[in-house]
Amino acid sequence: MAARIVGIALLVILVVGAEFVAVPEARLIRRDDSASGVVTGGGDGESAAGARRPSKWNRGGVISVAGIDTTSKAIEWAMAELIKNPREMVKVQTEVRQVAGAQGVLKEHLGTMSRLHAAMKEAMRLHPPVPLLLPHEAIQDTKLHGYDIPVKTWVMINAWPIGRDNETWENAEELLPEKFMHSPIDYNGKDFRFIPFSAGRRGCPGIVFATRLAELALANLMYHFDWELTEGQDLESFQVVESTGLTPALNPALILVAKPLEA
Ligand code: HEM
Repeated sequence: MAARIVGIALLVILVVGAEFVAVPEARLIRRDDSASGVVTGGGDGESAAGARRPSKWNRGGVISVAGIDTTSKAIEWAMAELIKNPREMVKVQTEVRQVAGAQGVLKEHLGTMSRLHAAMKEAMRLHPPVPLLLPHEAIQDTKLHGYDIPVKTWVMINAWPIGRDNETWENAEELLPEKFMHSPIDYNGKDFRFIPFSAGRRGCPGIVFATRLAELALANLMYHFDWELTEGQDLESFQVVESTGLTPALNPALILVAKPLEA
């Protein structure tokens, strides 16, 4: 099974693709973001992991790109999947409204909103906000499940098919929060079936902040509004499809009708 996952997921990039370019000191920058200094990869000898470390001038760029777009996309994907699956949305809404009660959603409530928590994970399983994670570089010749990976090879992990693998997930293409309700699988990258934040020591340092923020926002959206598709849209034709890009957006954009709950 592990070999299959690696087989599906491991894209060994010897020639860097269109979005990234290696600069002489082996730091890797995104070609289209070079002006804003967004570093997304590179082994500059600073760490034994041969991985990325942003310089002072680009740290702000890294944090804003890493933390803002990803989190807002996670909320958007969750909303899109819930509107596509109205029964699941009602279950999440019922939980949120019951737990929050008249006082409204407080961050202290999140710990007891297990269905909301599971729905957010399920949305990230189907739509990891950074599907190809970020490039990593091999620091030594490695043999992995029969593949020879020479030192300095860029390795990109595709989290998208891992989350949809029929052999590891039942009803892999469907949003069913139950998958996570009684499961120990968390965001921390310890289970390679679910790695929206990557894994290991260069995994995302913003996991706790991002998941709390996304869940708090989603809980408020569920608490305060009922949601419908716009006129002219129906459930059958409504598609939850990714655009291209480092952090893909919904294509077409998600436009919904929000009906405030009457007091
Ligand atoms: C749902 C939201 C988020 C997702 C899905 C996400 C995902 C990721 C992924 C996949 C990586 C690459 C890790 C690797 O290649 O091993 C990463 C790196 C990073 N993330 Fe996040 N992230 C999110 C939110 C945040 C937030 C809120 C922050 C900061 C407040 C943040 C800060 C960072 C930083 C600084 C890195 C680079 C870490 C390094 O190179 O050592 N992320 N993130």
